[in-house]
Amino acid sequence: MPTLKLFPTRIYDDALAAPPAVKSLNPQLLRECYQLRDMDQAGREWSRRNYPGGYTSYGSLDELFRTSSSFDELRLKIDRHVKRFAGELDYDLTGRSLQMTSLWVNIVPRHTYHGLHLHPLATISGTYYLKIPARSGAIQFEDPRLASFMAAPPRKRGGKAENQPFFRLQPRPGRLVLFESWLRHEVLQNQSDSDRVSVSFNYHWA
Ligand code: NI
Repeated sequence: MPTLKLFPTRIYDDALAAPPAVKSLNPQLLRECYQLRDMDQAGREWSRRNYPGGYTSYGSLDELFRTSSSFDELRLKIDRHVKRFAGELDYDLTGRSLQMTSLWVNIVPRHTYHGLHLHPLATISGTYYLKIPARSGAIQFEDPRLASFMAAPPRKRGGKAENQPFFRLQPRPGRLVLFESWLRHEVLQNQSDSDRVSVSFNYHWA
């Protein structure tokens, strides 16, 4: 087909590290997520208003890598992936660097979801998955050009993924997903009986 494919939207999806390297880190992070939920009263109140049904430390404790050595170890591991992703995006960071600016936890129980949003004031965002029961909700991305499509016909069901207006990525524990922070996304409803636990973060260039 004599066409060019330009202006791509990239979504990075990889294992954080080889399994032995995270064997003790992941259970420790999971424990700390629940400890945070139990002690973070301000966060529970913030979540009641802004994250119905679930708990997130986004509004209260969002720089966890500064206070927890486990989350800082996670940051160092994520840094490598962000660097690789920035290279793929051809970011010119001469004299500057990408730095993690925030990192927070999300605990999403049964029947809870997280609506469409983007991550303002950030460059690269992403999520690391700790506990993902079956049917606990994919992350769904929206074609950033959707508002410009106007009279474009709908796309064939089962057509090429790159031509669909939405893309669902099924997270798996131990993997991380990265995307540019302007890309709108949502977390679909948790239809399992147990919690879905993840850690989200933003990077800024400075
Ligand atoms: Ni998000």
